[in-house]
Formats: sequence, C-alpha cells, structure tokens
Amino acid sequence: MSYLPLEQSELLNDLTALLRIPSISTLPERRGDVARAAEFVRGQLQAAGLETCRLIEGEGNPLVYGEWLGAPGKPTLLAYGHYDVQPPDPLDEWKSPPFEPEIRGDDIFARGASDDKGQTLILIKAAAGLMKRDGRLPVNVRFLIEGEEEVGGEHISRFIASGSELARADAVVICDTEMFAPELPTICVGLRGIVYGELLVAGAAQDLHSGVYGGAAPNPIQALAEILCALKDRDGRIQIPGFTDRVRPPTPEEYEAWSRLPFDENEYREKEVGARELVGEPGYSVFERTWARPTLEVHGIRGGFTGEGAKTVIPARALAKISMRLVGDQKPAEASAQFQAAVERACPRGVTAEWKAIHSGEPSLIDPANPFIRSSAEAMEQVFGKPTVYIRSGGSIPIVGLFDKHLGIPSVLMGFGLPDDKIHAPNEKLHLPNFFRGIEAIARYFEIVGRG
Ligand code: BES
Ligand code: MN
Ligand code: MN
Repeated sequence: MSYLPLEQSELLNDLTALLRIPSISTLPERRGDVARAAEFVRGQLQAAGLETCRLIEGEGNPLVYGEWLGAPGKPTLLAYGHYDVQPPDPLDEWKSPPFEPEIRGDDIFARGASDDKGQTLILIKAAAGLMKRDGRLPVNVRFLIEGEEEVGGEHISRFIASGSELARADAVVICDTEMFAPELPTICVGLRGIVYGELLVAGAAQDLHSGVYGGAAPNPIQALAEILCALKDRDGRIQIPGFTDRVRPPTPEEYEAWSRLPFDENEYREKEVGARELVGEPGYSVFERTWARPTLEVHGIRGGFTGEGAKTVIPARALAKISMRLVGDQKPAEASAQFQAAVERACPRGVTAEWKAIHSGEPSLIDPANPFIRSSAEAMEQVFGKPTVYIRSGGSIPIVGLFDKHLGIPSVLMGFGLPDDKIHAPNEKLHLPNFFRGIEAIARYFEIVGRG
C-alpha cells in the first residue's frame, strides 16, 4: 500500500482472523462466536489508535464503539458496519469451508468476506493507516459496528432511537454495498425497505393418512400455495390491495443516470442470475424492478414429508418464510397489515393462516447533491481514476433509515463489493484489490471531508 503505511500481509492476517469466526447472528448456538467477533473488532479499533474502544452491551448482540475526536471544528463521521454474517448453508456447495478463508487468485473466499467483515475492516484500516502515518485523523470519527444487521438490528435501532451522545455525527459512512461493475467507483443512494416474517397455515388437528382422509380433509400446503398465488400474479404483480399506493417513481434525473450505466441485460441474466429468463412486472426495466419497485418473495417452505422415499400424509401445518421489499413512502407496519388482510381474504376454507412479522426496516433515499456524498464521489474518483456512478440497490440496511429519522444525517454508502461476490450464498468472496483500494478510498474520503 503506497498511500498508507500498511502492510498487505498484515491486513490479510487481520481479515483472515475475523473471517474465521462464525458469527452467525440468527443461530442461538453461535452466541459465543458472535461475542468473540465483537471483541476482535474492538481490538482492531484499539489497535488502530482509536479511543474509548468498548463493547456496548444490551439486549441482543454487543455494539462495538470506538472514537477519535481530536479535530475540533471539523465534521464528525459515524462509521458503521456489521460483524455478523448469514448462515453458510448449503455447506456442500462451498469449494472451501465457509469459515476457513482461502485465497484463490485475487479473491478471498469465506462467509462474510464481502458482507460485511471485509468491508467493515476497510473502514477500520483506513483510520489505522492515517493514524499510523500522521498520528491523527483529518476528521472526527466514531465507529459503531453492530452484530445483528442480518437479523434486523434491534439493538442498534434502540441505541440510535435513544439519542445517545455516542452517535452524534454529521454524516454516516458505510461500506456494505456493491460497486456497479469492477473498477467502476459507485455510490449507492437508495435502499429498499423490508418486512420479513413467517406465515403459518394450520389445518387438521394432526397429520392424517392421505388415502383415508384425502378428499375431505384440508391440506395446509395446498392452501399455502393458493394464498401465495393470490398475493402475486403470474406476471409478478403484487395483488395486495393498497400495497403500491405509496410507491414513488424515480426522478427523470435518476432515469437518465441509470440509462448511462454499462448494463447488458443478457449478460446479467446469464452470468449473474444464471437463469433461462428474467421475470417480473411487465413495463419495468431490471433497474426499476430491483431498485424502485416493491417485491414479495418466498424464502422457504416447511411442511409435510420431504425426506427420501415416499410417505402418504396430509400434514397438519405448513409454514412459509416471506419478505416484502419496500420503496418510496411505503411503511413496514402498514405493508405488514396490508399483507395480513390480503392473506385473510385469500385463505381457503378449512385452514387458518397466521402472519408473524419478524423484522423490518424502512426504505431510504439519499440526495446525491449532499456535500458528504460529493466528497465521497471525489475520493472514489481519485482512487479508481474514473467518474463515480450513482445507483440504488434492492437490498436493505434498515439502520440507514433510522440514522436519517433520529439523527437527521445522511448515510454515504461507499461500497466495495462486486456483483459476483455471492453475498448470502455459497462461495462468498471479496475481491482483494477492492479491499486495498477501498482502504485508500476511505482514507481519502476522511481527508477530503477534513479539508472542508
Ligand atoms: N449488505 C446487505 C445489504 C445490501 C447488499 C445492500 C448489497 C446493497 C447491496 C445487508 O447485510 C443485508 O443483507 N441486509 C438484509 C436486510 C436485513 C434486515 C436482513 C437484506 O437486504 O436482506
Ligand atoms: Mn451487509
Ligand atoms: Mn447481508
């Protein structure tokens, strides 16, 4: 690293050590690992030369805090990331084990490499490099790293809503998104919101012989399928009354910017999605479908007999994990209520359907004209040598909406992931050149913000 006095081998050692910790926030049996990851991150903040590095304990997984406030009169940035990861399964599809990081070519493969341990470390190492070089930072920085982003981020949400002094800042900087294409500096200025939950359909009091009772007994799996089909038609149009009322179309400027993005739909279909055909609402482009329209997706269905061989049974219950992505002025609570009402209407005779929301987050849009975004575009351009593009993403980072709502500050989403990083999927990786250039870009960003 020429710009900062950091050794690539040491950076890789720290990255590897963090990636080895299976901090899967949704699995209760991984609590110990989650705690270990938090402590590791705390150690990294401390080693970077930050002050007051500590865990903020509360209900849920610890938040990790560290600050450097030695630049009075300069802006304060809140650097956010998450040290928790998604479950690695299906395990047998990994070429190397998910928690034994392996470098192949220019990539490091492990669960969390891109989302978000590698990218969180980018933020920390940028501060470490500047501290090592100058003994100080050009801006004030507070780090707030959470351990339950992948499960809805309850702890940090309460912390931010409580109005803690420790979150006082002028802007947030986050590395937890993707570049639009390799080498193309990208800032994400829109995220979808989410409502995630489970739908439980119940029929008979217990499982029944499907020959003896079939024809008279209700089948919850069939009922679940009917409900799902009633909620979204074959063209992908959501049929929940009122659901799209608060959707807002992108601005003409946004459409114009999107039209200039280097995008080949066929290549996207083949290389990234890997499907025969793309689907979705007629009349909308892929960008609109994935960035600016709401969705309803089923993530898993449980019920009946799915083992080897055959068993003739009518199950008593069926369950589906479902989420809706939200855009514009859609509100999670309202969307969830609309969903529930539509389920009740669609529920066939003989069964009951119960909706239980698990977590949610609001959509967010960030004004690209904001000075903190402008500075970030400048930093990206300096490091990547190309004009920065502004995109939205279909993913969700619920805390971004809360930073806006409770602190009134914008979030600068400077992502260094790539579209083929396979986040949440087997063989997740981080492109190492992006790791190193990301560190440089964030350090530049700190300098530009500090320059005023
Ligand atoms: N970092 C992702 C979100 C993301 C990915 C934003 C790619 C932009 C580009 C984040 O960790 C994530 O996966 N969020 C969850 C939401 C959460 C409430 C479960 C998601 O989007 O499913
Ligand atoms: Mn993430
Ligand atoms: Mn994620």
